[in-house]
Amino acid sequence: ERIPVICIDGPTASGKGTLAAELASRLGYHLLDSGALYRLVGLAAEREGLSTTEADLREPAHAERLGRLAAGLDVRFTPGKTWLEGEDVTEALRAEPAGMAASRVSAVPQVRAALVDLQLQMRHLPGLVADGRDMGTVIFPGAPLKIYLTASAEQRAQRRHKQLISKGIPAILDDLLADLKARDARDMNRAHAPLKPAEDAVLLDNSELDIEQSVQFVLNRWHGQQ
Ligand code: C5P
Repeated sequence: ERIPVICIDGPTASGKGTLAAELASRLGYHLLDSGALYRLVGLAAEREGLSTTEADLREPAHAERLGRLAAGLDVRFTPGKTWLEGEDVTEALRAEPAGMAASRVSAVPQVRAALVDLQLQMRHLPGLVADGRDMGTVIFPGAPLKIYLTASAEQRAQRRHKQLISKGIPAILDDLLADLKARDARDMNRAHAPLKPAEDAVLLDNSELDIEQSVQFVLNRWHGQQ
């Protein structure tokens, strides 16, 4: 508990990943991208031929199977890269299908439970910046600083659109907006660890802020309470 953790929770495409990575780099802290873990489970399921449809996930035996898959993930992180069973999956992880699969498998309690220890183990000196949906509510409830990052759905869809187009990936704004709203709804309404601000979280709406302004906001809070 003496190792500091800064939690950055919030909906999809709110800029959590960018903010968390920037904070970790400036503070010299470790970084936990918890979404990557759920994306890895989605990807691993697909590769094993295990269904991730919502109907199948409601089957207790199938939920157990996915929980075992999550518990036995053969994953390795190297700077800037993620490896699943020895294969570089960095690109595949960021793609939309992995995100949608992640959003479905992350509603399975057995999957969430299987990933708890892995996340707790990321807490090393000098500190950790943890990015996700339930960092402040479930995984690190005692964290000294919790940020709940939001932006309007339209803003978030536009940002994601720009990001994809700049990478040469074709994208349709309306489709992105619809996917994003579907994912928000699923993340906020699930029974286990739903997306919501922790009671002691600081709300930060970055609709009108650039990255530097968001970074400064968090650093000011952090230094102010140290
Ligand atoms: O943040 P990212 O888009 O990579 O997360 C992918 C999905 O993983 C989210 O839509 C969410 O359903 C799930 N997730 C979660 N808990 C976390 C992080 C991500 O349920 N701590």
